[in-house]
Amino acid sequence: MTNSQSLRARIHELAELIRNHDHRYYVLDDPELTDAEYDKLFRELRDLEGAHPEWVEPDSPTHRVGGAVLDKFTKLKHRVPMLSLANALSEEEFIDFDQRVHKFLDRQPNLELEYFAELKFDGLSINLTYEEGLLTHAATRGDGETGEEVTQNVRTIKTVPLRLTTKSPPRIIEIRGEILLPKKDFVALNQEQEKKGEKLFANPRNAAAGSIRQLDPKIAAERPLVLFAYGVGMTDYSMPETLAAYEDLLATWGFLVSPERKICRGVEDVLTFYQRIKKIRAQLEFEIDGTVIKLNRLAEVDQAGYISRNPRGMIAFKFPASQETSVIEDIVIQVGRTGTLTPVAHLRPVRVGGVMVSRATLHNQDEIDRKDVRIGDTVVVQRAGDVIPEVVSVVTEKRTGNERRFVIPDHCPICHSKAERKEGEVALRCVARNCVAKLRERIRHFVMKDAMNIDGLGEKIVEQLIDEGLVKTFADLFDVTKEQLLELEGFAEKSADSLVQAIAASINPELERLIFALGIRHVGERTAKLLSQHFQTLNDLAKARAEELELIQEIGPEVSKAIIEFFTDSEHQLETKKLLDHVNPQKPKAKISGGKLSGLTIVITGTLPTLSRSEATKLIEENGAKTSSSVSKKTNYVLAGAEAGSKLDKAVELGVAVINEQQLLEMIENS
Ligand code: IVH
Repeated sequence: MTNSQSLRARIHELAELIRNHDHRYYVLDDPELTDAEYDKLFRELRDLEGAHPEWVEPDSPTHRVGGAVLDKFTKLKHRVPMLSLANALSEEEFIDFDQRVHKFLDRQPNLELEYFAELKFDGLSINLTYEEGLLTHAATRGDGETGEEVTQNVRTIKTVPLRLTTKSPPRIIEIRGEILLPKKDFVALNQEQEKKGEKLFANPRNAAAGSIRQLDPKIAAERPLVLFAYGVGMTDYSMPETLAAYEDLLATWGFLVSPERKICRGVEDVLTFYQRIKKIRAQLEFEIDGTVIKLNRLAEVDQAGYISRNPRGMIAFKFPASQETSVIEDIVIQVGRTGTLTPVAHLRPVRVGGVMVSRATLHNQDEIDRKDVRIGDTVVVQRAGDVIPEVVSVVTEKRTGNERRFVIPDHCPICHSKAERKEGEVALRCVARNCVAKLRERIRHFVMKDAMNIDGLGEKIVEQLIDEGLVKTFADLFDVTKEQLLELEGFAEKSADSLVQAIAASINPELERLIFALGIRHVGERTAKLLSQHFQTLNDLAKARAEELELIQEIGPEVSKAIIEFFTDSEHQLETKKLLDHVNPQKPKAKISGGKLSGLTIVITGTLPTLSRSEATKLIEENGAKTSSSVSKKTNYVLAGAEAGSKLDKAVELGVAVINEQQLLEMIENS
């Protein structure tokens, strides 16, 4: 062999070795070489190719690092159009789909159909063309007929085989798949972007799309994008008969395919798959927005037919979206019960995660500035679990120039007194004694279900009582008479009677509810309960000093400071004294030790079939267990009901046992 022949053979050999290693590393997750060994091979190949450009192979792994910068993308027509899928957004909609498919296939309704179920990747769809086994073109979906050629960028993705790993490749084949950026890489990318003062991406999908639609392939090369393959467009290859077998074939050719996939027989099987995926969603390394359910046999897909570019035998069975876009119609300042001025975005109503959302908190000025949120902006709105909706980011491409910046005023919008910022706090607060907005919020909090639980005292009535000057402090509520109520708009004999009765019925609250009702900063239901158990009377709590408060487990300096501030305020002292003339708080029952659930910590999530939240909490606590609002490793059980959200995901992630209401009741009865 001449020297040049052996060099050329070495180039070929190195390319083979590196390709094989890439596949083992990125697709099979089973590397053989150390990073240093890999780098050595890679450098050797790059140097040899540099010296002999005439011998560079078209599928050389060095091509992944990104070539020349383009002026613009060229259009590329797909050989077979890229179709889309109809959606099912609930179990009922999936059942309807299954029944329709029975009709299209002319099957008896009781016969179970065979489906192939897999993940619905939330990324950018892509069409890859392989000729004689070599990747020759990659195009975005575009309008389904024609996309943009992004071959340079797609080549940089390590899980895209540059050559199919088979001895007898199709002469031509279009492979369809989805490009994603893993969640952790998305977080890291945004941190980088922030450091560089560049635009943040709203979600991993936008980040993936933004990386592929870059004219400079070096940018895509730097981003750890991943491809999952799920389908085939045009080909002359004789393909298998089922989609499950299709994907097995794609995997043998070197592609990553859905890690979760299952052949399901009938609706029940599909629903079980869907529920399981919903539970493990949070643990997956990349975003999915549901599952895709397809008739497994291609002959049946064809027989079911197509309607406006959707195959009737396939459906995207999606999770309720947790992010949507909407428009900020206004930004309004809300005055909280402790006087905090919070900017709230009023949105064009939009359904997020199955719930209508028309307001979202913007937290404070720092947040507004950081996200550069303006009135009139189109924004991404997110609702995660039970959390208050929030604005994630601005869709700046939608700006028209008519958007208006917003600055939180330095005075209370209701009582107009000057707002203050305490040292170490971000928020501005209205500190006026007689601010009506604060009073309104305090009273609303006082009467709410988990506090004094006064039925029939809605927002509007609270406002009327304050406007008429009937209520200036908590105690005043108990002096309101039927005659006074009858003077107010909207009251009649019966409604006035029942409100007076409801107020009278609330005069013997449990101490913990009364403490919670006072609306002390940082004192939520749980802290109120701890305080009531420790102090046994409101007067003792009012006299408590920091050292004593901090002896209570879970109470730290911030909370104890807030409690002391509250009770050393002379107005609050007067208010509490007056209140105790009207109400008679019930001492907490002795702590139950050795209850049937003694020592356990349980987190409740979702809607239970028969018990309300507070009933379940009471039951759990009466049996000696603690309830907590967040799932951690220390949680013993998560009690989950319908529409359980992120807490359930978290439980699955941490391996915490999940029980339903029935199981809880059994534990109490049987143990
Ligand atoms: S199959 C007929 N399988 O969802 C179209 N699509 O509207 C066949 N997608 O454009 C698509 N994961 O980009 C299929 N496992 C999966 C998918 C998937 C994500 C995307 C795809 C398509 C859209 C459906």
